[in-house]
Amino acid sequence: MANKKILLSGIKPTGEMHIGNYFGALRQFVELQDKYETYIFVADLHALTTVQNREEMQENIFNTVVAYLACGLDSEKVVLYKQSDVPQVTELGWIFNCLTTMPYLMRAHAFKDAEAKNKEINVGLFDYPMLMAADILIQDADLVPVGQDQKQHIEIARDTAEKFNRVFGADVFKIPEPHILDNVAVVPGTDGQKMSKSYNNIIPLFATDEEIEKAVMGIVTDSGAGRPENVYAMHKLFRSEAELEKLYSEKEGRYKELKEALIEDVKTFIAPLRKKCDELLEDRSTVLEIIRRGGEKARARAEEKMGKVRSITGLTLQ
Ligand code: ADP
Ligand code: TRP
Repeated sequence: MANKKILLSGIKPTGEMHIGNYFGALRQFVELQDKYETYIFVADLHALTTVQNREEMQENIFNTVVAYLACGLDSEKVVLYKQSDVPQVTELGWIFNCLTTMPYLMRAHAFKDAEAKNKEINVGLFDYPMLMAADILIQDADLVPVGQDQKQHIEIARDTAEKFNRVFGADVFKIPEPHILDNVAVVPGTDGQKMSKSYNNIIPLFATDEEIEKAVMGIVTDSGAGRPENVYAMHKLFRSEAELEKLYSEKEGRYKELKEALIEDVKTFIAPLRKKCDELLEDRSTVLEIIRRGGEKARARAEEKMGKVRSITGLTLQ
């Protein structure tokens, strides 16, 4: 492990995981886990900016870890943890707050969007990028795989590392590289928009057969001639274009049959994931133990880093 580069990423536990999350994020984490020393976490403190209900938070955190494991992250290889088990992250986030200006954070897309929509913006949401910078920099991450929408947050983390190093005249933080998953298709939802739990258009990652049937049958098909694009776009996740060309020309205009073919493919894809998910849900103590162990490792590394940070900032007396 010693000379592998460090990869780190996280997902906010804000709701039910869906196949968009798998193709857009989880699958990449699983593929990269052998090549890098990998740290994957559940960004529960970030989720707290929107999820403010005890049961919902607990369930979301647990299910996100289950999703990581069911999709193939190996807890023996990967440090799997939850953000709030590493309180050093919030400590570092505060230190970054003291170096970052308000106008700088006001340029963040997420903040600007929320403002444009007249949303009530809590301070946590405004400060979100500083906590994210702390997540990344505290573990010395080299590489941070994220979707396109998170690119600016990685740039902010890089700026923050540079500013800290400059202000305190020491190379405390590594400058992380984004690994933008831009060759990853945006998975469309049942309404043709990007699949997102906020749009009510998802196929849950652990959907039952009935849920799959209902979701796929509910896909909005364009009434124009030719193939049903929304069905085809989702089908592309599971089969090569060559296979689909054939299928869609054979069944031209027979939308119901095409949906039935898609249902079969989704079922085949989800069945082993759901099986693994059910096993993990039955074995809660094993999952909790994985989170505990991951937290311990992540915390130990974070504490070591914070020792340097406290020393260089003059917070430690000698
Ligand atoms: P949601 O839009 O459902 O709230 P998140 O923003 O929590 O999803 O996304 C978690 C991860 O899954 C991110 O890395 C994001 O890029 C990826 N992701 C989410 N939806 C999709 C999608 N429809 N297609 C591809 N990737 C997605
Ligand atoms: N903001 C990320 C998202 O919404 C989640 C996240 C929090 C994250 N901290 C991170 C991702 C650190 C990568 C690295 O998807």
